[in-house]
Amino acid sequence: MIVTTKVQDMQTMMQQYRLEGKTIGFVPTMGYLHEGHVALIKKAREENDIVALSVFVNPLQFGPNEDFARYPRDIERDERIAKENGVDVFFCPSVEEMYPRPLSVQVVVKERVDVLCGKSRPGHFDGVATVLTKLFHIVMPTRAYFGMKDAQQVAVVDGLIRDFHFPIELVAVPTVREEDGLAKSSRNIYLSPEERKEAPALYQALQRAKQAIENGERHPETVCALVKDYIQANTSAEIDYVEIYAYPELKPLEKLRGKVIIAVAVRFANARLIDNIVMDVK
Ligand code: PAF
Repeated sequence: MIVTTKVQDMQTMMQQYRLEGKTIGFVPTMGYLHEGHVALIKKAREENDIVALSVFVNPLQFGPNEDFARYPRDIERDERIAKENGVDVFFCPSVEEMYPRPLSVQVVVKERVDVLCGKSRPGHFDGVATVLTKLFHIVMPTRAYFGMKDAQQVAVVDGLIRDFHFPIELVAVPTVREEDGLAKSSRNIYLSPEERKEAPALYQALQRAKQAIENGERHPETVCALVKDYIQANTSAEIDYVEIYAYPELKPLEKLRGKVIIAVAVRFANARLIDNIVMDVK
């Protein structure tokens, strides 16, 4: 596995692979790799000649009161996991390398951001879209891999790729879960043992919503209320939101029909958790 911290080296190397006609699968991450990331690496490994993985905790996508400084980091462990899972190129630039001077141009996301996490994290997806625009130009991938756990991010990246004509195929990979249903996340380590026991209630609530829809329920408010009640009854977490939209447009629906996302975000004492399911409603 080649490891580099330099934008120029990375770009030159990737350009060479493209000239050789190799397909490149790109897995952008903020590190502290877990099985969710490994699922992305494995999928990229199956589908491409070269797998590139980036580890970069992007300050631009953290708000002033968010956990940028506290975000877990362990680059040696990340390198080991990447290598074990067949990554060819490991790109881990510093903040200075990625942002050597204040940006004179920034990407602003206009659609699909005024709901779900975007609503409570103003500027977050502008930061994501900006760093991905940079990374896409550095890595020049054939395909880019993202986890469906952050379904809003997938929707935003879909818009970015289409609007800016990136010749990249977006691959959305299903959420990887613990045995008890809790979605894998770097932030799960912040849960107390008690909270960790409660956390699977998020997925259970989503499963109940799915069941209700399968049984004929079509009113978004009724489904949201069901999810909220279940989470409130089974956890000590504070609910940030429970919302249902058309997916990937993230537009509200009067009656459930077509592809929909049911998404939740809750706050435990030291961790904010998100989860969602996407389903086709006939
Ligand atoms: O999902 C993430 O880890 C980040 O938002 C991403 C896509 C690597 C951009 O910084």
